[in-house]
Amino acid sequence: MKKLFAVLILAVMPTLTFAAEHGVELDKVDIDLTDKAAMQDGARTFANYCMGCHSAKFQRYERVADDLGIPHELMLEKLVFTGAKIGDHMNIGMQPADAKAYFGAAPPDLTLVARVRGTDWLYSYLRAFYEDPTRPWGVNNKIFPNVGMPNVLVGLQGRQVVGCKQVQMVVDGKKQFDPLTGTPLTHEACDQLTIVPKSGTLTPEQFDEKVKNLVTFLAYSANPVKLESQRIGTYVLLYLAFFFVFAYLLKREYWKDVH
Ligand code: HEC
Repeated sequence: MKKLFAVLILAVMPTLTFAAEHGVELDKVDIDLTDKAAMQDGARTFANYCMGCHSAKFQRYERVADDLGIPHELMLEKLVFTGAKIGDHMNIGMQPADAKAYFGAAPPDLTLVARVRGTDWLYSYLRAFYEDPTRPWGVNNKIFPNVGMPNVLVGLQGRQVVGCKQVQMVVDGKKQFDPLTGTPLTHEACDQLTIVPKSGTLTPEQFDEKVKNLVTFLAYSANPVKLESQRIGTYVLLYLAFFFVFAYLLKREYWKDVH
């Protein structure tokens, strides 16, 4: 019994630590790993905005090109800036020791980050940078407080600041409505992230889409065989269903004289 109890505690522990790690609520994102256009866009953003600092060294350019339907020449021309060959791993030139000196923390490899952090976390994190003059790069992050990474997407998103906004009241996790009119009850909250209008090249909706595409690419990169396993899995199940019929008929044949 004691043992069972210990096992149960161990089983729920990851969820407990996970919940404790970020008190801030994550924005949900629906990732579609069959959407190649989204992943191509994400790969482009990744190469242009992230690979200055982050590698994806367990992944090869060629594999990405083939999986996402990008011709090799186009891949080399548009997405490879290091002079790497198509069969090379997606490494970067920056040395971890130098990076640590510049940023206080080395930018981790991002091949598997979607498995470690989850897609909701990534989607929220990349949209949660805000101006904070007390930080070395002038920005902080709501999801990852005091992060060492600068806000590399600021040109697209625009300047995000903490400000006041009318938000719906929530009591015990339930949204509050006026009992008579049914309209949402709001109050002013002054810890809200708001984008300074027209300070970025994309609208907030376009920016969210851009980040979603990037996260889709990272989700693919963390598990490039997922689609393939699902496809094979379907055949395996079909095969088993088909085989079952013959196994059953055979069983009937063997037991026929016993009964
Ligand atoms: C100028 C360098 C730089 C660029 C460019 C950059 N990052 Fe970072 N990134 C960092 C550093 C440094 C850290 C480590 C921060 C820390 O631990 O405080 C980091 C951390 C992260 C983390 C957190 C990883 C973890 O699990 O702790 C993610 C996710 C991430 N970056 C994603 C991205 C994405 C996606 C892009 C492209 C849009 C990008 N970064 C561009 C420097 C950079």
